[in-house]
Amino acid sequence: MQKLRTIKGTHDILPRDIYKWQKIEAVLREIFLSYAYSEVRTPVFEKTSLFSRGVGEFSDIVRKEMYTFEDKGGESLTLRPELTASVVRSYIQHHYNQEAPLHKLWYLGPLFRQERPQAGRQRQFHQFGIELIGSPHPESDAEAIDVTCNIYRKLGLKNWKLYINSIGSIDSRKEYMKILRNDLKPHIDNLCQSCQERIDGNILRLFDCKNPQCATIMQEHAPSILDHLSKEDAEHFEQVKLLLDANGITYIVDPTMVRGLDYYTRTTFEIKGTALGAQDALCGGGRYDNLISDLDGPDTPAVGFAAGMERLIIAMDAEALFEDELNTVNLYIAPMNSHCLKAVLPLAQRLREKGFSVYVELLRRSVKAMMRDANRQQARWVTVIGDHELESKTMQLKNMNENKKIDMVWDKVDTVL
Ligand code: HAM
Repeated sequence: MQKLRTIKGTHDILPRDIYKWQKIEAVLREIFLSYAYSEVRTPVFEKTSLFSRGVGEFSDIVRKEMYTFEDKGGESLTLRPELTASVVRSYIQHHYNQEAPLHKLWYLGPLFRQERPQAGRQRQFHQFGIELIGSPHPESDAEAIDVTCNIYRKLGLKNWKLYINSIGSIDSRKEYMKILRNDLKPHIDNLCQSCQERIDGNILRLFDCKNPQCATIMQEHAPSILDHLSKEDAEHFEQVKLLLDANGITYIVDPTMVRGLDYYTRTTFEIKGTALGAQDALCGGGRYDNLISDLDGPDTPAVGFAAGMERLIIAMDAEALFEDELNTVNLYIAPMNSHCLKAVLPLAQRLREKGFSVYVELLRRSVKAMMRDANRQQARWVTVIGDHELESKTMQLKNMNENKKIDMVWDKVDTVL
């Protein structure tokens, strides 16, 4: 019989790794709160049409990567491949616009894309991100970028770079796409099959093609989108850059960064990990001024970003940023017999109420085995409670980090943990 295992491209987050997630999540909550963002949680599955209309028919996500199924009622549903469309659906459904003109939202959760799994690319992965809904002004683009950079800074990550671009509003982009098509048509026979198919659809996707021959053709023949922005789009982009400069944020302008989702307008940005492999995008985002009205909501501008948790953990592991996270168990109590066990339970309870993590051994092991276990648990302090300790209500505390020992009465243990 076949062994039961996780599905290809999905992973258990093991107990021994969970502290990494919790460390990041704590920093995220702190940062989002410091910018006055509120958390929103949406269901993991939605109507398929939300994503086909929202993310765009020409995107790889909709063309190839969605987990779509029919439920028993015959309705087509999809496991969410991204969160922007879901948050926008929630914004429209619950009339957020009637509560306030501007909404600052953040989220964290699992997403599903049927991509070819490799390091940093899973089929179930996790994103955190923000959607800042209601402002057309460049200061909100700059704030979204600022929040993003602050997260990586606060986590201590060093090896990353911010790339920004403007892909213009729909009208200026349509004009640019016409010019691009004209310039590329003479080279169509030298493009890969997929680029040839896309040239009449969303031709911007050609910038993302990894085929070296397509990349060379794009480099040599594709005009820069930044030379074809309308006056208003160019002014918006200028303002975003000035605000980033004013905030001391360094960036690289990359006119080929068009992003893989169809809803973007004007500003796009990505942060790339400089020490990551092929899957180097730590996060991506941008402005999407038409998505809310395209999904039948009020005409509302918005900007946001989303970032992969798994890639962040790979990047933080590579910079050894989790090494100070040991010792979650403050005290490991090793009772020598059942009387001792009974007697230490109220003590353990008192310490837990004071906020300490206390591990009471439950396997009736030998002292040697208990000490080995305490070591494995990375407990900071260990104490063995035998009849003598029980009678005198004292204990010897052994510090596992510094290899020092101190004697203590039970009532005062909390003063050293
Ligand atoms: P995205 O670029 O598709 O954008 O994804 C954002 C981030 O999610 C990527 O930079 C990467 O870190 C992570 N990611 C994507 N796919 C995978 C995967 N298969 N495995 C592991 N990590 C992955 C969006 O999703 C947009 N909704 C971002 C946005 C928000 N734009 C505006 N608001």
